Amino acid sequence: MEVLFKPYKEDKSEEFLLYIDGKHVGEVGLDDIFNDRKKSVYIHTLEIYYYHRGKGYSKILMEEIEKYAKSRNKTKLRLGVEEDNPIAIKLYQSFGFTIKEKITDIDDTDDEFFIMTKRL
Ligand SMILES: CC(C)(COP(=O)(O)OP(=O)(O)OC[C@H]1O[C@@H](n2cnc3c(N)ncnc32)[C@H](O)[C@@H]1OP(=O)(O)O)[C@@H](O)C(=O)NCCC(=O)NCCS
Repeated sequence: MEVLFKPYKEDKSEEFLLYIDGKHVGEVGLDDIFNDRKKSVYIHTLEIYYYHRGKGYSKILMEEIEKYAKSRNKTKLRLGVEEDNPIAIKLYQSFGFTIKEKITDIDDTDDEFFIMTKRL
């Protein structure tokens, strides 16, 4: 399997694309990945596109994020996930993320939003 993980644009965009065997299968945003003053990266808008789900690609994406963050000397990963997304929560936990904070009442609903972190 050929894996390619690269910024969307050459100009240090914080949006990254994942290609598997030449197919564009997903994307992720990595805030502060190119900001050398920040030691942590905030992961957001992580997605494996609908027709490519269920094939283990999210795990490849997480591995690539970790490798890239380490190569940029980052020491911590952070992300936010809604409580009603058990697939994503389980995925992050399996990668060693733990829930650091629970935020409620973000938009006048009782939904909870979890901030999860992992030390690299
Ligand atoms: C969450 C998401 C990234 C998972 O991507 P994926 O490539 O389909 O997931 P994988 O195939 O790598 O599977 C990861 C795990 O989730 C499980 N899983 C995946 N899809 C599932 C489903 N529909 N139902 C139950 N479990 C599922 C897999 O069995 C696997 O578990 P395992 O570790 O026990 O084997 C993808 O569903 C997605 O992009 N969703 C929409 C956007 C989103 O929710 N992003 C996260 C925002 S915080």
